[in-house]
Amino acid sequence: MKHSRRAFFEAGLALPAVLHATPELAGADWSAPVSSPDSSFDPWVEIHRESLRHNVAEISRRVSTRPILAVIKNNGYGMGVANVAQLLEPQSEIFGFAVVKLHEAFSLRDAGIRKPILLLGPFDEQNLADAVSRDILPMVYTPVGSMLDKIAAKSQKSVPLHICIDTGIGRVGVPYHRAAPLVRDLASRKSVRIQGTMMTFTEDPDFDKEQFRRFNETCSSFEKEGIALGKKHAASSFSLFQHADSFLDMVRPGMAIYGIYSENEFRHTNILDLHPAISLKARVIYAKKLRKGDSAGYNRAYMAKDDVWVATIPVGHADGWPRVAAKGAKIRINGDLYPVIASVSASHCIVEIGPEEKVKIGDVATFFDAQPGSRPEDVSECCGASVYDLTMHLNPLLTRRVV
Ligand SMILES: Cc1ncc(COP(=O)(O)O)c(C=O)c1O
Repeated sequence: MKHSRRAFFEAGLALPAVLHATPELAGADWSAPVSSPDSSFDPWVEIHRESLRHNVAEISRRVSTRPILAVIKNNGYGMGVANVAQLLEPQSEIFGFAVVKLHEAFSLRDAGIRKPILLLGPFDEQNLADAVSRDILPMVYTPVGSMLDKIAAKSQKSVPLHICIDTGIGRVGVPYHRAAPLVRDLASRKSVRIQGTMMTFTEDPDFDKEQFRRFNETCSSFEKEGIALGKKHAASSFSLFQHADSFLDMVRPGMAIYGIYSENEFRHTNILDLHPAISLKARVIYAKKLRKGDSAGYNRAYMAKDDVWVATIPVGHADGWPRVAAKGAKIRINGDLYPVIASVSASHCIVEIGPEEKVKIGDVATFFDAQPGSRPEDVSECCGASVYDLTMHLNPLLTRRVV
């Protein structure tokens, strides 16, 4: 089964419910650190420092040490935007960071991040002034020259920015065939320093080639006019595998940094050895034996064909565990993988343990981690959830632990 980022699956974003532990706790493993005021059963996200370091080194090798602009949007792909930036910033391969939301850019500066931050998202005039005052680089594709003049006049400094050119994704970016007036206007202003010029691939391998041709042709026509475009960049994780010719002056990956193959087929190449740097875990809150004919889940989604043990884990779609997980995802408990059954509700899911009582209250349940069989790509393969949904939809309120 192929599940690209383009696959969309519904996932709730409401806050998780407060869960109440049962008293049957004998024999549980309590060695993992627990942070109050969460229940010790609540889900937590682990961020693996060494895996992040490894993935960055791998990407750097792949791109012949070109600088890496680390995409850490959407709460650092679920890891916590400041956590990820703080872990990555000391690595010399990392040129800077890219986020979409203005508040994420500010929170990076608040957390003491000093490397360049590119804001991929929208802004009004006040937002732009605030961003520039905190050394946040705007990505520009509309006629904002006069706003930039005002801001530069106040600060007595030119404003560094990146220009985004749309070569066919049709999302943001000035269309390449109509880019000339904007680029010439920006280049002519003393208030502006063009520090970079970028595009985004559609990740359709054939059309990507045409997009890249458009980008190169557009850029070289400006350069022939004497316009300096700064660092040119286009390559996300997908391109690290598919388009070695598109690395340009800098690469712009997200998912590969977190050690996850954005397309499952990339796992079976030797191009990059990625180690998942994110895990989702929680503790079993209840284990019980269903009798033949008993049901589980809303709408009796599961019917026991025989007597069977099941375990309940306090992780549901409100935590970011997708509903579609009930279509084949497996959860690791005590080294074995157990299928998710019934339905994923807002705050719970249920796994089928089998005829024996192999799982007890308090056991750690791993939804995904770096082990074969429970990597995010494995979950994606089994149930159809995109790896982007598995990470980016994790509730920001879950505890994050750097390990
Ligand atoms: C403009 C842009 N560049 C780069 C990326 C990184 O993509 P990926 O996580 O697939 O490497 C994204 C994320 O979707 C993006 O929107």
